[in-house]
Amino acid sequence: MTHQPILALAPMQAVTNLPFMNVIGKMGGPDYYVTEYFRVHALYHLEKKILRSITENNTGKPIYAQLIGQDIDALVRVCKELEAYPIEGVDLNLGCPAPVVYRKDAGGGLLRKTEHMERIIAAMREAIPGKFTLKTRVGFEHEDEFSALLEIFNRYEIDLLTIHGRTVKERYQTPVHTDCIQRAVEQMSCPVIANGNVVDVSTAQGMAKRTGAAGLMIGRGAIRNPWIFDQIRASYAGATPQVITRNDLHSYIMTLYDEIAAHAPNFDETKHVQRMKKYLTYISQGVDEAFEHHIRRAKTAPEFMAICNDSLGNSSPIPIAPPEDSKIFCGFAALR
Ligand SMILES: Cc1cc2nc3c(=O)[nH]c(=O)nc-3n(C[C@H](O)[C@H](O)[C@H](O)COP(=O)(O)O)c2cc1C
Repeated sequence: MTHQPILALAPMQAVTNLPFMNVIGKMGGPDYYVTEYFRVHALYHLEKKILRSITENNTGKPIYAQLIGQDIDALVRVCKELEAYPIEGVDLNLGCPAPVVYRKDAGGGLLRKTEHMERIIAAMREAIPGKFTLKTRVGFEHEDEFSALLEIFNRYEIDLLTIHGRTVKERYQTPVHTDCIQRAVEQMSCPVIANGNVVDVSTAQGMAKRTGAAGLMIGRGAIRNPWIFDQIRASYAGATPQVITRNDLHSYIMTLYDEIAAHAPNFDETKHVQRMKKYLTYISQGVDEAFEHHIRRAKTAPEFMAICNDSLGNSSPIPIAPPEDSKIFCGFAALR
Protein backbone atom coordinates (compact mmCIF):
# COMPACT_ATOMS: atom_id res chain seq x y z
CA MET A 1 0.00 0.00 0.00
CA THR A 2 1.23 3.50 -0.89
CA HIS A 3 1.46 6.47 1.47
CA GLN A 4 -1.70 8.19 2.64
CA PRO A 5 -2.51 11.13 0.36
CA ILE A 6 -3.11 14.64 1.72
CA LEU A 7 -6.86 15.23 1.78
CA ALA A 8 -8.58 18.47 0.79
CA LEU A 9 -12.17 19.63 0.62
CA ALA A 10 -12.90 21.02 -2.86
CA PRO A 11 -14.16 24.59 -2.99
CA MET A 12 -17.84 24.67 -3.99
CA GLN A 13 -19.67 27.93 -4.42
CA ALA A 14 -22.67 28.36 -2.13
CA VAL A 15 -21.87 25.01 -0.49
CA THR A 16 -18.47 25.05 1.22
CA ASN A 17 -19.27 28.08 3.33
CA LEU A 18 -18.38 28.66 6.97
CA PRO A 19 -21.17 26.50 8.51
CA PHE A 20 -20.41 23.59 6.17
CA MET A 21 -16.69 23.73 6.94
CA ASN A 22 -17.37 23.86 10.67
CA VAL A 23 -19.70 20.85 10.49
CA ILE A 24 -17.37 18.75 8.35
CA GLY A 25 -14.40 19.72 10.52
CA LYS A 26 -16.08 18.05 13.52
CA MET A 27 -16.52 14.83 11.54
CA GLY A 28 -12.85 14.22 10.83
CA GLY A 29 -12.67 16.63 7.94
CA PRO A 30 -9.93 17.24 5.39
CA ASP A 31 -6.33 18.30 6.00
CA TYR A 32 -7.02 21.68 4.42
CA TYR A 33 -9.78 23.83 2.98
CA VAL A 34 -10.19 26.23 0.07
CA THR A 35 -12.77 29.03 0.17
CA GLU A 36 -15.52 29.51 -2.39
CA TYR A 37 -14.10 31.83 -5.01
CA PHE A 38 -13.78 35.59 -4.53
CA ARG A 39 -14.98 36.97 -7.92
CA VAL A 40 -12.34 39.64 -8.41
CA HIS A 41 -12.81 42.67 -10.70
CA ALA A 42 -11.68 46.31 -10.74
CA LEU A 43 -14.16 47.58 -8.11
CA TYR A 44 -14.19 44.40 -6.03
CA HIS A 45 -14.05 44.42 -2.26
CA LEU A 46 -13.41 41.17 -0.42
CA GLU A 47 -16.79 39.60 0.18
CA LYS A 48 -17.58 39.52 3.92
CA LYS A 49 -19.46 36.24 3.77
CA ILE A 50 -16.50 34.40 2.24
CA LEU A 51 -14.04 36.17 4.53
CA ARG A 52 -15.92 34.75 7.51
CA SER A 53 -15.01 31.24 6.37
CA ILE A 54 -11.41 32.33 7.02
CA THR A 55 -11.75 34.50 10.13
CA GLU A 56 -14.37 32.43 11.97
CA ASN A 57 -13.25 29.02 10.78
CA ASN A 58 -13.05 26.75 13.83
CA THR A 59 -11.69 23.62 12.14
CA GLY A 60 -8.10 24.33 13.19
CA LYS A 61 -6.94 23.44 9.66
CA PRO A 62 -5.23 25.61 7.01
CA ILE A 63 -7.41 27.42 4.52
CA TYR A 64 -6.53 28.83 1.09
CA ALA A 65 -8.39 31.82 -0.37
CA GLN A 66 -9.49 31.14 -3.93
CA LEU A 67 -9.67 33.96 -6.49
CA ILE A 68 -11.30 33.96 -9.90
CA GLY A 69 -10.95 36.76 -12.42
CA GLN A 70 -9.06 38.12 -15.40
CA ASP A 71 -8.12 41.68 -14.33
CA ILE A 72 -4.43 41.50 -13.43
CA ASP A 73 -4.28 44.73 -11.40
CA ALA A 74 -7.38 43.79 -9.44
CA LEU A 75 -6.10 40.26 -8.74
CA VAL A 76 -2.76 41.64 -7.53
CA ARG A 77 -4.52 44.21 -5.32
CA VAL A 78 -6.71 41.52 -3.75
CA CYS A 79 -3.67 39.27 -3.13
CA LYS A 80 -2.13 42.12 -1.14
CA GLU A 81 -5.37 42.75 0.78
CA LEU A 82 -5.50 39.07 1.71
CA GLU A 83 -2.15 39.36 3.49
CA ALA A 84 -4.10 40.77 6.46
CA TYR A 85 -5.96 37.46 6.89
CA PRO A 86 -4.85 34.13 8.40
CA ILE A 87 -4.72 32.16 5.14
CA GLU A 88 -2.33 29.38 4.16
CA GLY A 89 -2.05 30.77 0.64
CA VAL A 90 -3.89 32.01 -2.43
CA ASP A 91 -5.40 29.73 -5.06
CA LEU A 92 -6.26 30.79 -8.62
CA ASN A 93 -9.32 29.23 -10.24
CA LEU A 94 -8.54 28.02 -13.79
CA GLY A 95 -11.45 25.63 -14.11
CA CYS A 96 -14.90 27.14 -13.60
CA PRO A 97 -17.03 25.84 -16.53
CA ALA A 98 -19.98 28.22 -16.12
CA PRO A 99 -20.43 30.03 -19.48
CA VAL A 100 -21.14 33.32 -17.68
CA VAL A 101 -17.63 33.03 -16.18
CA TYR A 102 -15.58 31.48 -19.00
CA ARG A 103 -17.02 33.79 -21.69
CA LYS A 104 -15.41 36.66 -19.76
CA ASP A 105 -12.07 34.81 -19.91
CA ALA A 106 -12.12 34.01 -16.19
CA GLY A 107 -11.97 30.56 -14.53
CA GLY A 108 -11.86 27.84 -17.19
CA GLY A 109 -11.93 30.55 -19.89
CA LEU A 110 -8.28 31.36 -19.13
CA LEU A 111 -7.25 27.91 -20.38
CA ARG A 112 -7.97 29.10 -23.95
CA LYS A 113 -6.28 32.50 -23.42
CA THR A 114 -2.97 31.09 -22.35
CA GLU A 115 -0.90 34.25 -22.89
CA HIS A 116 -3.16 36.22 -20.59
CA MET A 117 -3.28 33.31 -18.15
CA GLU A 118 0.50 33.31 -18.02
CA ARG A 119 0.62 37.06 -17.34
CA ILE A 120 -1.83 36.57 -14.45
CA ILE A 121 0.17 33.70 -12.97
CA ALA A 122 3.42 35.68 -13.23
CA ALA A 123 1.89 38.77 -11.59
CA MET A 124 0.22 36.84 -8.80
CA ARG A 125 3.38 34.84 -8.10
CA GLU A 126 5.29 38.08 -7.71
CA ALA A 127 2.59 39.62 -5.50
CA ILE A 128 2.13 36.68 -3.12
CA PRO A 129 4.88 36.28 -0.52
CA GLY A 130 3.52 32.95 0.73
CA LYS A 131 1.98 29.96 -0.99
CA PHE A 132 0.44 30.31 -4.43
CA THR A 133 -1.54 27.40 -5.83
CA LEU A 134 -3.49 26.74 -9.03
CA LYS A 135 -6.67 24.73 -9.54
CA THR A 136 -7.04 23.77 -13.19
CA ARG A 137 -8.85 21.47 -15.56
CA VAL A 138 -6.97 19.49 -18.23
CA GLY A 139 -7.88 21.79 -21.13
CA PHE A 140 -10.71 23.89 -22.50
CA GLU A 141 -11.94 21.84 -25.48
CA HIS A 142 -9.65 18.83 -25.39
CA GLU A 143 -7.17 17.14 -23.07
CA ASP A 144 -4.51 17.48 -25.83
CA GLU A 145 -4.09 21.06 -24.60
CA PHE A 146 -2.78 19.84 -21.24
CA SER A 147 0.92 19.44 -22.08
CA ALA A 148 1.20 23.10 -23.11
CA LEU A 149 -0.59 24.17 -19.93
CA LEU A 150 1.81 22.14 -17.79
CA GLU A 151 4.78 23.81 -19.48
CA ILE A 152 3.38 27.21 -18.52
CA PHE A 153 2.59 26.21 -14.92
CA ASN A 154 6.09 24.80 -14.51
CA ARG A 155 7.70 28.15 -15.43
CA TYR A 156 6.53 29.65 -12.13
CA GLU A 157 7.15 28.61 -8.57
CA ILE A 158 3.72 27.19 -7.88
CA ASP A 159 3.37 25.56 -4.47
CA LEU A 160 0.63 23.10 -5.38
CA LEU A 161 -1.26 22.21 -8.56
CA THR A 162 -4.77 20.81 -8.18
CA ILE A 163 -6.17 19.12 -11.27
CA HIS A 164 -9.84 18.42 -11.87
CA GLY A 165 -9.31 15.74 -14.51
CA ARG A 166 -11.85 16.97 -17.04
CA THR A 167 -11.84 19.65 -19.73
CA VAL A 168 -13.99 22.75 -19.25
CA LYS A 169 -16.35 21.48 -21.95
CA GLU A 170 -16.73 18.16 -20.13
CA ARG A 171 -18.14 20.03 -17.11
CA TYR A 172 -19.00 17.19 -14.66
CA GLN A 173 -20.39 14.56 -17.02
CA THR A 174 -17.51 12.26 -17.95
CA PRO A 175 -14.99 9.96 -16.28
CA VAL A 176 -11.81 11.81 -15.30
CA HIS A 177 -8.60 11.77 -17.39
CA THR A 178 -6.36 10.11 -14.80
CA ASP A 179 -3.58 9.78 -17.40
CA CYS A 180 -3.34 13.58 -17.60
CA ILE A 181 -3.06 13.85 -13.81
CA GLN A 182 -0.40 11.14 -13.79
CA ARG A 183 1.58 13.05 -16.45
CA ALA A 184 1.39 16.18 -14.33
CA VAL A 185 2.72 14.25 -11.32
CA GLU A 186 5.73 13.22 -13.42
CA GLN A 187 6.37 16.61 -15.01
CA MET A 188 5.53 19.21 -12.38
CA SER A 189 8.14 20.34 -9.90
CA CYS A 190 5.44 20.96 -7.24
CA PRO A 191 3.10 18.44 -5.59
CA VAL A 192 -0.07 17.58 -7.51
CA ILE A 193 -3.53 17.12 -5.98
CA ALA A 194 -5.93 14.92 -7.97
CA ASN A 195 -9.58 15.90 -8.15
CA GLY A 196 -12.76 14.54 -9.70
CA ASN A 197 -15.15 11.69 -8.93
CA VAL A 198 -13.68 10.45 -5.65
CA VAL A 199 -16.80 9.28 -3.85
CA ASP A 200 -15.66 6.53 -1.48
CA VAL A 201 -12.59 4.63 -0.27
CA SER A 202 -12.18 2.52 -3.39
CA THR A 203 -12.36 5.46 -5.80
CA ALA A 204 -9.92 7.36 -3.54
CA GLN A 205 -7.49 4.47 -3.67
CA GLY A 206 -8.04 4.07 -7.42
CA MET A 207 -7.34 7.75 -8.04
CA ALA A 208 -4.23 7.71 -5.84
CA LYS A 209 -2.88 4.55 -7.48
CA ARG A 210 -3.55 5.61 -11.08
CA THR A 211 -2.10 9.08 -10.71
CA GLY A 212 0.54 8.84 -7.96
CA ALA A 213 -0.72 12.24 -6.77
CA ALA A 214 0.43 13.65 -3.44
CA GLY A 215 -3.13 14.34 -2.45
CA LEU A 216 -6.80 14.04 -3.24
CA MET A 217 -9.36 16.82 -3.32
CA ILE A 218 -12.95 15.75 -2.75
CA GLY A 219 -16.04 17.83 -3.48
CA ARG A 220 -19.48 16.40 -4.10
CA GLY A 221 -18.53 13.06 -2.54
CA ALA A 222 -17.81 14.86 0.73
CA ILE A 223 -21.20 16.59 0.77
CA ARG A 224 -22.82 13.20 0.33
CA ASN A 225 -20.52 11.49 2.82
CA PRO A 226 -18.60 13.86 5.11
CA TRP A 227 -17.03 10.86 6.87
CA ILE A 228 -15.12 10.09 3.67
CA PHE A 229 -11.89 11.75 4.88
CA ASP A 230 -11.69 9.59 8.03
CA GLN A 231 -12.75 6.52 6.06
CA ILE A 232 -9.85 7.07 3.64
CA ARG A 233 -7.44 7.62 6.55
CA ALA A 234 -8.66 4.40 8.17
CA SER A 235 -8.18 2.44 4.94
CA TYR A 236 -4.57 3.63 4.60
CA ALA A 237 -3.94 2.81 8.27
CA GLY A 238 -5.13 -0.75 7.63
CA ALA A 239 -8.25 -0.23 9.76
CA THR A 240 -11.87 -0.83 8.77
CA PRO A 241 -13.60 2.37 7.64
CA GLN A 242 -16.68 3.39 9.64
CA VAL A 243 -19.97 2.07 8.27
CA ILE A 244 -22.43 4.95 7.90
CA THR A 245 -26.02 4.34 8.96
CA ARG A 246 -29.24 6.18 8.22
CA ASN A 247 -29.18 7.51 11.81
CA ASP A 248 -25.69 8.96 11.16
CA LEU A 249 -26.97 10.65 8.02
CA HIS A 250 -29.98 12.02 9.92
CA SER A 251 -27.79 13.52 12.59
CA TYR A 252 -25.47 15.06 9.94
CA ILE A 253 -28.42 16.68 8.15
CA MET A 254 -29.83 18.06 11.41
CA THR A 255 -26.44 19.45 12.49
CA LEU A 256 -26.01 21.10 9.10
CA TYR A 257 -29.57 22.46 9.29
CA ASP A 258 -28.91 24.10 12.67
CA GLU A 259 -25.41 25.38 11.82
CA ILE A 260 -26.51 26.96 8.53
CA ALA A 261 -29.57 28.47 10.26
CA ALA A 262 -27.33 29.95 12.96
CA HIS A 263 -25.31 31.75 10.28
CA ALA A 264 -28.26 32.98 8.18
CA PRO A 265 -28.56 36.78 8.47
CA ASN A 266 -32.42 36.94 8.34
CA PHE A 267 -33.63 33.46 9.07
CA ASP A 268 -36.60 32.42 6.96
CA GLU A 269 -37.72 28.82 7.38
CA THR A 270 -38.97 28.28 3.82
CA LYS A 271 -35.84 29.78 2.27
CA HIS A 272 -33.79 27.67 4.65
CA VAL A 273 -35.44 24.47 3.39
CA GLN A 274 -34.56 25.52 -0.17
CA ARG A 275 -30.96 26.15 0.91
CA MET A 276 -30.77 22.72 2.55
CA LYS A 277 -32.09 21.05 -0.60
CA LYS A 278 -28.89 22.10 -2.38
CA TYR A 279 -27.00 19.82 0.01
CA LEU A 280 -29.68 17.13 -0.06
CA THR A 281 -29.30 16.81 -3.85
CA TYR A 282 -25.96 15.14 -3.11
CA ILE A 283 -26.77 13.58 0.29
CA SER A 284 -29.84 11.75 -1.02
CA GLN A 285 -27.92 9.97 -3.81
CA GLY A 286 -28.12 6.27 -3.09
CA VAL A 287 -30.24 6.44 0.07
CA ASP A 288 -33.46 5.37 -1.65
CA GLU A 289 -35.64 6.69 -4.43
CA ALA A 290 -38.56 7.58 -2.15
CA PHE A 291 -36.34 9.78 0.05
CA GLU A 292 -34.84 11.50 -2.98
CA HIS A 293 -38.29 12.03 -4.49
CA HIS A 294 -39.95 13.43 -1.35
CA ILE A 295 -37.09 15.63 -0.21
CA ARG A 296 -36.98 17.28 -3.64
CA ARG A 297 -40.61 18.32 -3.17
CA ALA A 298 -40.39 19.46 0.47
CA LYS A 299 -41.41 23.10 0.95
CA THR A 300 -41.83 23.69 4.67
CA ALA A 301 -39.57 22.89 7.59
CA PRO A 302 -42.08 20.43 9.18
CA GLU A 303 -42.31 18.58 5.82
CA PHE A 304 -38.53 18.49 5.53
CA MET A 305 -38.13 17.17 9.09
CA ALA A 306 -40.88 14.55 8.69
CA ILE A 307 -39.30 13.17 5.50
CA CYS A 308 -35.89 12.94 7.19
CA ASN A 309 -37.37 11.29 10.31
CA ASP A 310 -39.41 8.77 8.31
CA SER A 311 -36.64 7.79 5.90
CA LEU A 312 -33.56 8.00 8.09
CA GLY A 313 -34.73 7.06 11.58
CA ASN A 314 -33.07 3.65 11.74
CA SER A 315 -29.66 2.07 11.93
CA SER A 316 -29.48 0.35 8.53
CA PRO A 317 -26.30 1.19 6.62
CA ILE A 318 -26.44 3.50 3.61
CA PRO A 319 -24.72 2.34 0.40
CA ILE A 320 -21.01 3.16 0.35
CA ALA A 321 -21.18 4.80 -3.09
CA PRO A 322 -23.87 6.64 -5.03
CA PRO A 323 -25.74 4.59 -7.66
CA GLU A 324 -23.61 3.94 -10.75
CA ASP A 325 -26.28 5.48 -13.00
CA SER A 326 -26.45 8.64 -10.87
CA LYS A 327 -26.86 11.80 -12.95
CA ILE A 328 -25.11 13.80 -10.23
CA PHE A 329 -22.03 11.58 -9.93
CA CYS A 330 -21.11 10.56 -13.50
CA GLY A 331 -18.45 8.03 -14.36
CA PHE A 332 -16.93 7.50 -10.91
CA ALA A 333 -16.90 3.70 -11.29
CA ALA A 334 -14.06 4.07 -13.85
CA LEU A 335 -11.75 5.02 -10.96
CA ARG A 336 -12.07 1.68 -9.18
C1 LIG B 1 -21.86 23.26 -6.63
C2 LIG B 1 -20.41 23.33 -7.03
C3 LIG B 1 -19.71 24.52 -6.86
C4 LIG B 1 -18.35 24.60 -7.23
N1 LIG B 1 -17.66 25.76 -6.98
C5 LIG B 1 -16.33 25.81 -7.22
C6 LIG B 1 -15.53 26.94 -6.84
O1 LIG B 1 -16.02 27.93 -6.27
N2 LIG B 1 -14.19 26.90 -7.13
C7 LIG B 1 -13.60 25.81 -7.74
O2 LIG B 1 -12.39 25.80 -7.97
N3 LIG B 1 -14.34 24.74 -8.09
C8 LIG B 1 -15.66 24.70 -7.82
N4 LIG B 1 -16.35 23.56 -8.11
C9 LIG B 1 -15.63 22.38 -8.64
C10 LIG B 1 -15.16 21.48 -7.48
O3 LIG B 1 -14.21 22.16 -6.68
C11 LIG B 1 -14.51 20.18 -8.01
O4 LIG B 1 -13.42 20.52 -8.81
C12 LIG B 1 -15.50 19.33 -8.81
O5 LIG B 1 -16.74 19.24 -8.17
C13 LIG B 1 -14.94 17.92 -9.05
O6 LIG B 1 -14.67 17.27 -7.84
P1 LIG B 1 -15.69 16.18 -7.20
O7 LIG B 1 -15.97 15.16 -8.25
O8 LIG B 1 -14.97 15.64 -6.02
O9 LIG B 1 -16.96 16.94 -6.85
C14 LIG B 1 -17.71 23.48 -7.79
C15 LIG B 1 -18.42 22.28 -7.97
C16 LIG B 1 -19.75 22.20 -7.60
C17 LIG B 1 -20.48 20.89 -7.78
